[in-house]
Amino acid sequence: MRLGDPLSFLLPTLILLLLLLSGHKSLGSSELANRREYKLLSYTSPTASSLPFLPLLAPSPLTPFKNSTIPKLSGHCVLNFTALSSMMHVTATDCMSGFAPLLANIVCCPQLEATLVIVIGHSSKYTNTLALNGTLASHCLSDFEQILVGQGASDSLAKICSIHSSNLTEGSCPVSDVAEFESTVDSSNLVAACENIDTVNECCEQVCQTAILEASRKLAQKAYNLTSLDGSHVLSNHTTRINDCKSIVLRWLGSKLEPSHAKEVLRGLSNCRINKVCPLNFPNLSHVIEGCGTVISNQTTCCGAIDSYVDHLQRQSFVTNLQALNCAATLGVKLRRANITNNVYSQCHITLKDFSLQVALYCIYLRCRRA
Ligand SMILES: *[C@@H]1O[C@H](CO)[C@@H](O)[C@H](O)[C@H]1NC(C)=O
Ligand SMILES: *[C@@H]1O[C@H](CO)[C@@H](O)[C@H](O)[C@H]1NC(C)=O
Ligand SMILES: *[C@@H]1O[C@H](CO)[C@@H](O)[C@H](O)[C@H]1NC(C)=O
Ligand SMILES: *[C@@H]1O[C@H](CO)[C@@H](O)[C@H](O)[C@H]1NC(C)=O
Ligand SMILES: *[C@@H]1O[C@H](CO)[C@@H](O)[C@H](O)[C@H]1NC(C)=O
Ligand SMILES: *[C@@H]1O[C@H](CO)[C@@H](O)[C@H](O)[C@H]1NC(C)=O
Ligand SMILES: *[C@@H]1O[C@H](CO)[C@@H](O)[C@H](O)[C@H]1NC(C)=O
Ligand SMILES: *[C@@H]1O[C@H](CO)[C@@H](O)[C@H](O)[C@H]1NC(C)=O
Ligand SMILES: *[C@@H]1O[C@H](CO)[C@@H](O)[C@H](O)[C@H]1NC(C)=O
Repeated sequence: MRLGDPLSFLLPTLILLLLLLSGHKSLGSSELANRREYKLLSYTSPTASSLPFLPLLAPSPLTPFKNSTIPKLSGHCVLNFTALSSMMHVTATDCMSGFAPLLANIVCCPQLEATLVIVIGHSSKYTNTLALNGTLASHCLSDFEQILVGQGASDSLAKICSIHSSNLTEGSCPVSDVAEFESTVDSSNLVAACENIDTVNECCEQVCQTAILEASRKLAQKAYNLTSLDGSHVLSNHTTRINDCKSIVLRWLGSKLEPSHAKEVLRGLSNCRINKVCPLNFPNLSHVIEGCGTVISNQTTCCGAIDSYVDHLQRQSFVTNLQALNCAATLGVKLRRANITNNVYSQCHITLKDFSLQVALYCIYLRCRRA
């Protein structure tokens, strides 16, 4: 095992437990396969339907066991949490008390952050602003937490996920008004780059991330426009400012895309940040290069070479499916550097499953080779 992170030990156990809990021994293996497949695919991005995706935990087996309690709300928050109640419920489930610290970085916090972004984005359709002022922000963050806690979530989410009420404001970004936003950034380009992100290739090619950065830079640049100078924004650090503008851009995207779709996109983006490290050693690619060449001349040979390469990787270690995404991307980069420009993954039907823990476990369970 090369995985240093304690999560990498805990997760396999947890997942195995879930597999055992949710599988019925009386089911035939193909029925079981279908059930499992369904679970793996239930968070699939709309564009890459063969790739199992985040989060590791489907909400169904883990509905909060606490009875919902009526949260005590401030009465001052303008956000409409009711309009996104099903997303709130999934968030409460992903951040269940007890599990939240364990699953913080990979399941709970990305879901929590995506939900906040979408709730604020959604409200901008009525308020015309993509940020809350300081007073509202603290009321809303508190209400948000109360609602989640009422549904079984941990009561220290703000701490676990480092969310402060300032994260709901515009921070040092000079633009939060929707109309000003849309007149500043190339909004159609932004939507085009981000509405259908390819969850495997996005981490590598950064199509949407580049568009977001570009838009954030344009917004941040406005702080230096001398004709609209108001002093308060000028002093901030440029890197911080661009980051603050990124939140504004994400919220705007959250308002443009249908909520569940927006969530897939945001989760896909955070996936690129998490678990950047692929724990596998990539051996010498020379066989693959030989088999695949710059132009695939014999697909059987090429796919045979890539199959045995990936098999070799699989034997090294179990990989969480977050890491799997990274491993797929890393190998993709290596192939490209070796001038193998064809999309070997699609030609050889290699999917994330071939890199991932869930399938590895699943295969031990069913004594199969590829699912
Ligand atoms: C949850 O609520 C139901 C009915 O409202 C009640 O019967 C049950 O005992 C409650 N469970 C817990 C754990 O409080
Ligand atoms: C919040 O959204 C729900 C469902 O979309 C809607 O019925 C309700 O009127 C909204 N509340 C406010 C205060 O806008
Ligand atoms: C914050 O925004 C709310 C609603 O837009 C407004 O009523 C309130 O006066 C604002 N507070 C401050 C300190 O600007
Ligand atoms: C919230 O803002 C603080 C700085 O004000 C930052 O360190 C932190 O990463 C932000 N949290 C999120 C989830 O963006
Ligand atoms: C600077 O602000 C003025 C007035 O708000 C606007 O007309 C001008 O286009 C802005 N320039 C840039 C580079 O954004
Ligand atoms: C801005 O902040 C970043 C990180 O907080 C820091 O690395 C950088 O040196 C700062 N730049 C300036 C000009 O202060
Ligand atoms: C990979 O293996 C080939 C032949 O076995 C060898 O020529 C090449 O130097 C190796 N490359 C690396 C990076 O080890
Ligand atoms: C590809 O290679 C395999 C064995 O390496 C061979 O059996 C097959 O005929 C070749 N196919 C083509 C189209 O050359
Ligand atoms: C890939 O192709 C480029 C241009 O054709 C060439 O310069 C480079 O050396 C090649 N790299 C490898 C690893 O073959």
